[in-house]
Amino acid sequence: MSIRFNSETRVFSLTTANTLYQMQIGQAGVLLHLFYGPQATGEMDYLVRLQDRGFSGNIYELASQRGYSLDTLPQEYSGSGVGDYRAPAVQVRAENGSRSVDLRYAGHEITPGRERPQGLPYVRPAEDTETLTITLTDPVLGLRVQLKYHVFPAQDVIVRSARLINDSNRPLRLEKAATVCLDFLYGDLDVIHFHGRHNMERLPERQRVSHGGLQVGSRRGMSSHHHNPFVILCAPHATERQGECYGSMLVYSGNHLEEVEKDQGGTIRLVSGIHPEEFSWLLAPGEDFQTPEAILSFSAQGLNGLSRNYHRILREQVIDKKYPQGPRPVLINSWEAAYFDFDAEKILGFARAARQMGMEMLVLDDGWFGKRNNDTTSLGDWVVNEQKLGCSMGALSEGVHALGMKFGLWFEPEMISEDSDLYRAHPDWALQDPGRKPNVSRNQLVLDMTREDVGEYIFQAMCAVLDSAQIEYVKWDFNRSIANSYSHALPADRQGELAHRFILGTYRLLSRLLERYPDLMIEGCSGGGGRFDAGMLFYCPQIWCSDDTDAIERLEIQRGTSYGYPVSAMGAHVSACPNHQSGRSVPLSTRGIVAQSGTFGYELNPEKLTEEEREEVRRQIQDYHRYAELIAQGDYFRLTELDGNPDWEAWMFVSPDRKEALVNLVIRHIRTNGTFPFVRLQGLDPDREYQLEGTDFSATGAALMAGGFAFPMPRWDYEGKQLHWIAK
Ligand code: DGJ
Repeated sequence: MSIRFNSETRVFSLTTANTLYQMQIGQAGVLLHLFYGPQATGEMDYLVRLQDRGFSGNIYELASQRGYSLDTLPQEYSGSGVGDYRAPAVQVRAENGSRSVDLRYAGHEITPGRERPQGLPYVRPAEDTETLTITLTDPVLGLRVQLKYHVFPAQDVIVRSARLINDSNRPLRLEKAATVCLDFLYGDLDVIHFHGRHNMERLPERQRVSHGGLQVGSRRGMSSHHHNPFVILCAPHATERQGECYGSMLVYSGNHLEEVEKDQGGTIRLVSGIHPEEFSWLLAPGEDFQTPEAILSFSAQGLNGLSRNYHRILREQVIDKKYPQGPRPVLINSWEAAYFDFDAEKILGFARAARQMGMEMLVLDDGWFGKRNNDTTSLGDWVVNEQKLGCSMGALSEGVHALGMKFGLWFEPEMISEDSDLYRAHPDWALQDPGRKPNVSRNQLVLDMTREDVGEYIFQAMCAVLDSAQIEYVKWDFNRSIANSYSHALPADRQGELAHRFILGTYRLLSRLLERYPDLMIEGCSGGGGRFDAGMLFYCPQIWCSDDTDAIERLEIQRGTSYGYPVSAMGAHVSACPNHQSGRSVPLSTRGIVAQSGTFGYELNPEKLTEEEREEVRRQIQDYHRYAELIAQGDYFRLTELDGNPDWEAWMFVSPDRKEALVNLVIRHIRTNGTFPFVRLQGLDPDREYQLEGTDFSATGAALMAGGFAFPMPRWDYEGKQLHWIAK
């Protein structure tokens, strides 16, 4: 039983293997948050101490209890406009213009398993998952809120969401409907969030939670390169190896907002969910609104411990189990090899050369449809350009399969070019404001995914191509931020629903395609990592991590990504040098080591490789297969602290049985007469002796973790080392 309710004290206790989450139904039915943290026995309602604070008003019926104020109590899901001046979880505008929301406990239910939310990605139930549903109501509004808590005991995870129901006979307008509201009564916390930009995504930034707080989020219509929907709150002394850490990750790919603030009494509040600025949802009588869900986790084992919790839950319950966590096909992608300049002969040439080195799948990227020879045209016209290819897609895919390879194809389903037959026929299918020239980005506009007819057209157009050839993989791109969020199909009073309806339309299309092609693997992409989130991972087992393929820059990008997401989800390729984004040249061996800590593939012209390089690629692919399960299923540890090391980066994997470990090191910056790169390994069995493969050196796991290990003195910039340790 992971969920208990004590009817005397009215305390809810949610327990996982190592954590406890407690709430209490307080006076006047206010749902109080008591505690989230390490496993503990007993109830912690004593933590809530009442304090009469000036200018913090009181609940009408408890007006004489001056300390019992919504403004100072730790709340589980805060309303708005009724005396709590911190960030609200929910904001509603009633038909009469009233904007107050006062939520009180009305009932609860504990049930085995969990239901699937309609139209949204979610955390799939484990065998022992239990659900607590707490109902809060505001009788004046006629609003009912069902708070859902799905407990995943083995993974140390609690999944939260809220369902808002209009029980009144008048419309209600939701102006904010967050997923998470989490109050911490005492202590200082740091917040770590993941910001970035195109070609440099998910860089961790850490700061003390302060009065006034911090907000990060996206209004771009996608989770975005700029702020990931994942934040960590941790003890100020927490490091990669130790300290208490909390995570909150939305299972969502659209606009989002994370608010973290410290209030007058030192209480820290985190609110996270759909960004309220591009959101205004008309809830008709009897209708309900389901928020996306969030994955909460806690670890006392430092940031690495928290990351491992997220890696586990995403690998086991979010990513579809039909995709192996072990080796996925080593692919060769045509983008950086040819860009828009190819025909079938050229592509088959790549495939032949790639196959000889052991690559297993050819992916034809952008440029195969309409009259697309550059990025100004044809998005939406998903018709194979046989004239350019010199053959049909079926014939090309046959040619690739005849070499013993799989075949994959690029799409950008949610976009439309002004220069396209689709736009000429249906200009109103593009998002744009009446009477206003739209914002253009990469020469393209965005399709109105809220519309069923648009979804149907794209579905049929994609199916026609997918049916015409044997296609095992789709790269699903999304190359601009959304602007001019106006749908010609939505009434004026529902335009504020567009952003959320858009992403629901995308999810619907993904679901339909996967239903129709159950063996298809879709790799998510949005100009690299602009939609790298748990929502997309529900449909796509891997996501192209960044358009920046420079191995040295990838160290930062992949490390930042690893705080929340497993390496088995990170699309990573070996590309040509000088690198097309940075101009940097990095040894092929180092490019291999970095891409191996991802889904592994190549994105270069394989025919241009020298005989020596081809031999090295063959070895890399053999190594990838040798280590693929250890990397994808093993425990991952960052050996470099969050603020980075200017000189080098190190990380390691330990197999689940702790019989082997793979330690990686890449030198960023060589120092003359420098120091030995020194790391203390993690996750080993302290009692076992580990042999360093290829040498006669061995040491106990305890020694390697406590005393550490010094690599030989580096010899040049960008040198990479990979050490394989095997338990004797
Ligand atoms: C952006 C992607 O991230 C690239 O890998 C490539 O697919 C281009 N789009 C194609 O237009």
